[in-house]
Amino acid sequence: MTSVRFDVVTLFPDIVRQAACCGVTGRAFGTGYATLKLWNPRDYTADRHRTVDDRPYGGGPGMVMKVEPLRAAIQAARRDDQTPATTLFLTPQGRLLNQDAMIRFAALDRLILVAGRYEGVDERLIDLEIDEEWSIGDYVLSGGELPALVLMDAVLRLIPGVLGHDDSARQDSHMEGLLDYPHYTRPEQVGELTVPGILQSGHHEAIRRWRLKQSLGRTWLRRPDLLAKAELDQEQRQLLDEYTREYPEE
Ligand SMILES: C[S@@+](CC[C@H](N)C(=O)[O-])C[C@H]1O[C@@H](n2cnc3c(N)ncnc32)[C@H](O)[C@@H]1O
Repeated sequence: MTSVRFDVVTLFPDIVRQAACCGVTGRAFGTGYATLKLWNPRDYTADRHRTVDDRPYGGGPGMVMKVEPLRAAIQAARRDDQTPATTLFLTPQGRLLNQDAMIRFAALDRLILVAGRYEGVDERLIDLEIDEEWSIGDYVLSGGELPALVLMDAVLRLIPGVLGHDDSARQDSHMEGLLDYPHYTRPEQVGELTVPGILQSGHHEAIRRWRLKQSLGRTWLRRPDLLAKAELDQEQRQLLDEYTREYPEE
């Protein structure tokens, strides 16, 4: 069984613990597909006030996370297990996370995720301890805990066995460079809206083609940037062509 270990270095371990315990992530951690250990830099301070931050050199607003407690927490996490770890810092200045990155992380045995707070961390911590910097989007949050949870959730979905049905992950948006097709469940009628007849036809091949066409069409409409990068086969090109020709009538 594939198992991945996450160590999260955070001043707010409760945020991570409480959010990680539910749903798919909770099941992954509860059934041995993944393990999670939390490290609080405050436990690696030497002074009476357990100081983890200080004023920025050069002045300016806010506080900066100090190198020593963060560094000691990261190193303690690393020493806690012989499995080599890749250490990631979650930061709005990092590369934008995407599904390709998640697929790469899911193939690793161990990740240490470092969550910043305040104005961020002393730059030398990044120089000394961080392998890669990643962002969850072009906006600024108050801390790296939610980004760390986002990353763990997306990676865990890709570990074989974590989802009830392994096809669920394979069919998700972004797995094949395309968006997912639309989904429907009972009841058949919601007000004026009915489920597309083909989905009730029982004709598996026709359903597969309909879904693929919707997936291509949606990507064309909503994310042309993804479509431009996708390498479409002949069937996909033909279905997309049908979709674009029919689109104004839809
Ligand atoms: C208030 S932010 C600091 C932002 C920093 N002053 C900057 O502009 O780059 C505090 C912490 O939240 C986390 N964070 C905020 N936005 C993020 C994002 N979009 N992706 C990943 N981490 C983020 C980082 O760990 C960051 O150190």
